[in-house]
Amino acid sequence: MALKIVTYGNPILRQKAKPVTKFDERLRELADDMIEAMHKADGIGLAAPQIGKSIAMFVVDISPIIEGFQPMVFTNVEILENEGSGPYTEGCLSIPGVSGEVLRPQKIKIRYTDLNGKTVEGVADGVLARVIQHENDHLNGKLFIDYLDESTLEPFKPVLEKLETKNKKILAKKNTK
Ligand code: NI
Repeated sequence: MALKIVTYGNPILRQKAKPVTKFDERLRELADDMIEAMHKADGIGLAAPQIGKSIAMFVVDISPIIEGFQPMVFTNVEILENEGSGPYTEGCLSIPGVSGEVLRPQKIKIRYTDLNGKTVEGVADGVLARVIQHENDHLNGKLFIDYLDESTLEPFKPVLEKLETKNKKILAKKNTK
């Protein structure tokens, strides 16, 4: 099933996602569909709230940057430790046309649950650590633009306002149905 990516202004992007509790075929199908949607949009990460589902799952595929990387699925992620701090220019499939440099820890230790319901612990650094932190923020209703200062954000204000207006219209339509 082709999934649609929701954009900035949709309230689901500001909600805290519910933990995943059922690791069944349906979840695996959703993960596959999310990987497909991420690839179609040329993204390297996609979180469930971005396709309109407020559950704690995201997919990552950094193969455009790290050759040979296979798509990964993460649920119920906890960041246990972090180390260092560095800048990286981020963007987001839900905020097209906006990008900016964000400072984040460069190395993280995480615990997550895989699609089989197995708890996994691992260490990530570089781009992978970056994407995991960006996607995990989505599960807490946080967006990368929240880290940008007012002057960096200023030129993007019209884009953000346009997206918000579009989503308000969609919402108003839904409510009158
Ligand atoms: Ni994003």
